[in-house]
Amino acid sequence: MLLQLLSVLWEALSLQVVLVFLVAFLLFADYKKKIRPRDFPPGPMPLPLLGNMLNMDFKKPHFSMQKFAKKYGNIFSLQVGNRRVVVVNGLQLVKETLVHQGENFVDRPVLPLDKEIFTSFGLIFSNGLSWKQQRRFALSTLRNFGLGKRSLEERIQEESRYLTDAIEAENGQPFNPHFQINNAVSNIICSITFGDRFDYYDSRFQMLLHLFDETMYLQATIWSRVGLLYNIFPTLMKHLPGPHNTVFKNWGKLKSFVRGIIEKHKEDWNPSEPRDFIDAYLNEMAKVGDETDKHFHEENLLHSTLDLFFAGTETTSTTLRWALLYTAIYPEIQAKVQAEIDSVIGQSRQPSMDDRDRMPYTNAVVHEVQRISSIVPLNVPRMTTKDTTLAGFHIPKGTIMVPNLTSVLFDKDEWETPNVFNPGHFLENGQFRKREAFLPFSAGKRVCLGEQLARTELFIFFTALIQKFTFQAPKNVTLSCEFRMGVTLSPLPYRICAFSR
Ligand code: HEM
Repeated sequence: MLLQLLSVLWEALSLQVVLVFLVAFLLFADYKKKIRPRDFPPGPMPLPLLGNMLNMDFKKPHFSMQKFAKKYGNIFSLQVGNRRVVVVNGLQLVKETLVHQGENFVDRPVLPLDKEIFTSFGLIFSNGLSWKQQRRFALSTLRNFGLGKRSLEERIQEESRYLTDAIEAENGQPFNPHFQINNAVSNIICSITFGDRFDYYDSRFQMLLHLFDETMYLQATIWSRVGLLYNIFPTLMKHLPGPHNTVFKNWGKLKSFVRGIIEKHKEDWNPSEPRDFIDAYLNEMAKVGDETDKHFHEENLLHSTLDLFFAGTETTSTTLRWALLYTAIYPEIQAKVQAEIDSVIGQSRQPSMDDRDRMPYTNAVVHEVQRISSIVPLNVPRMTTKDTTLAGFHIPKGTIMVPNLTSVLFDKDEWETPNVFNPGHFLENGQFRKREAFLPFSAGKRVCLGEQLARTELFIFFTALIQKFTFQAPKNVTLSCEFRMGVTLSPLPYRICAFSR
């Protein structure tokens, strides 16, 4: 009896001992992993398992970075989940990372969460030869389908008419412009990739955009805390409930929507007359390929199309929402833009890109909106392709890099009044002034692929809206520039009045 009791006690004790040893071992392994390599950039002390999670404000991550930069300098390191991250700040260091040493920082990190959603196909999350081929092909196909040509401008002008009609229908009553703007912007990328625009009241289109919107919001939620856990314990998290499951489900629906469009294209595809991006891609897939052509397959087609849709809708639409907000908050700036539109374009014709050179003030306002709204505040992360030296620090291969765009767009050595909405940043003697620190699209080899498209859309849509309407806060409402950190940094939902001019 006593022997039995002793043996049970011993078993329980040994289990505890084993557990204590196991935990101690895990903590030690974690600690060892977190010891900074020699000559690695400084940063706050990471906690066991949590790293620097508790040091970060996930709702305002760019503010946390600003605080760290003040304490540790323009290059510092963090432990995020189980990965080491180096954050680079200020124009000179960000340019050194993205441009002068661009080749060393050209990859994207492959994290389990992104891999689950985006896979490593397509444009945004791919690396190596696959990325190079998809990017080159997408750029040349966008050009073939009108980028930089009159035909694309005409599509944007046509869409501006639909947009201004939809806003006119609000009759000067307070409304949230989110969906009208989203509809218009995504129609441009739809017509390039799918070959057609959708009617704003088309139920399939509405379903697609709502699904997309919900996914963008949830995605940002999970990219912060849940995402960190997912990236550390992917196998476990896959089986646990949480918002990540809704995001996976939504992406599944978005993928099957695009798959359906690809199937439809295959049915009436005529290789000698490609109508859009998907047709052009099918042509590329059909080419008898040697080894280097192997990356043109259906998964890459699906993900490149989704990436163009994803990157091309959310960003430009968010910027236009900021633009309307700022013009309503600063009526004197709006009046100056209207005066310039009236003298250069008038009311009877639509704005075009040829007008931009004669409209320095409007151009400066669009640039200043992009600067101050900093919608991709921390850029899209990069990863070192090999052991590298940056600013005298040693950065091992595989380190995640964050070239902080907000630190450049608000760099106090570059901008006269970084925290003030001031179109004067882009004006000199009444003429438009280019600024080196204007990097909302990032820079270097992975610079935004849609920069030219976005700039064309922003100028034409914005000018067309201010030409037709005066935007104002509803009676007794004070509009605010408070933001929400989603996939982009966007204004909190607001209502505004559009009075016809
Ligand atoms: C105001 C609008 C936009 C802003 C501020 C913006 C910003 C950015 C930024 C900061 C990056 C990351 C670049 C880097 O890693 O260094 C990026 C990448 C990208 N953007 Fe944009 N973007 C905008 C509009 C668009 C549009 C309209 C398209 C669609 C054609 C687009 C397609 C892409 C793609 C495909 C990438 C990934 C490029 C790669 O990894 O090679 N973007 N964008």
